[in-house]
Amino acid sequence: MTNSMKTIHINTASPYDVHIGSGLLNSMGQLLPERILKAAAAGGKAVLITDTNVESLYGERVCTALAGLGFHVLKTVIPAGEEAKSGEQYLRLLSFMASERVSRSDVIFALGGGVVGDLSGFLAATYQRGIDFVQLPTTLLAAVDSSVGGKTAINLPEGKNLAGAFKQPACVIMDTDTLETLDASVFADGCAEVIKYGMIWDGELFEVLQNHVLTEPEQRKNTALLTDVISRCVDIKREIVIQDELDKGIRNILNFGHTVGHSIEKNSGFEISHGRAVAMGMAIITEAAEKAGICQAGIGEELRDLLTGYGLPVEAPFTVEDLLEGMLSDKKIEGQKINLIVPQQIGCCIIRRMSVSNAQRMLAGEA
Ligand code: GLY
Repeated sequence: MTNSMKTIHINTASPYDVHIGSGLLNSMGQLLPERILKAAAAGGKAVLITDTNVESLYGERVCTALAGLGFHVLKTVIPAGEEAKSGEQYLRLLSFMASERVSRSDVIFALGGGVVGDLSGFLAATYQRGIDFVQLPTTLLAAVDSSVGGKTAINLPEGKNLAGAFKQPACVIMDTDTLETLDASVFADGCAEVIKYGMIWDGELFEVLQNHVLTEPEQRKNTALLTDVISRCVDIKREIVIQDELDKGIRNILNFGHTVGHSIEKNSGFEISHGRAVAMGMAIITEAAEKAGICQAGIGEELRDLLTGYGLPVEAPFTVEDLLEGMLSDKKIEGQKINLIVPQQIGCCIIRRMSVSNAQRMLAGEA
């Protein structure tokens, strides 16, 4: 554990800490909350869920650390990739836990990115009506978004995240060293979510990201910078989530770029990754908002320049009609109204509820 570790307390109905810093996977005994350490000392079970990529990198280390705390470790590995966030894996893991006689006083540890975290969280929310789980995110996207805030889910054949629950983790431990082994394109995907925080909430963060391009090799090794940037994002998420834990109002703002982005992912048959689709979605909606006079002139270009500098795309290979069609199947559509998150300037977005036809006009640059 280093001196530069940051801890952010998330004061939701079930509160918890998010620890961010270098070397934290080696310090879990000092970071886990008392009730988890008690479960370990009592010889409880730790169900360690990870994927085929992360297992070979950090599986052994985490197993050893958990066993050292007193846990009886049950490791289970899912295939890497979005396909594993399925009903099939969910049922397999429920059966695995039942057959191993995992009880309500045992703990799930999710070691990996968003897929591992979302699936493990949904298991924790539903196995025996709820058991504790700890998030150990190993991707930038999971660090700044999916591991914090308690959204858990699996995908259905009909769409992404259609079955899920709100379940806050007992603790989040983000070891920034794990980001070193991330593939460059997966790291850049996470940067799209980081840029989102700059756009929706924190103009100063946007400037930091302009001055220090995180995807450049020397910045990727800059642990202090990464810890600072991730902490800023988590702190923004904290501020939003404590106001609207169940996503009925302001939390929607975290979906900036996502309504169009989800449609892009869907239209591409999920060939375009989430981060890249969100980057395109943010650029498209900002340009449309600028044309509609909602957003200050020049912001679209500034955002496009930043995204491009991070190697992220800003144009989608689909028509407005294709995009709208995909947007209509988003689970956030209510009736014929759509909530679009629209920037006014850097660091400030608003939620605009509009008819589908107005959204179409706006995206076509006619409103
Ligand atoms: N990922 C958006 C949210 O947590 O609300």
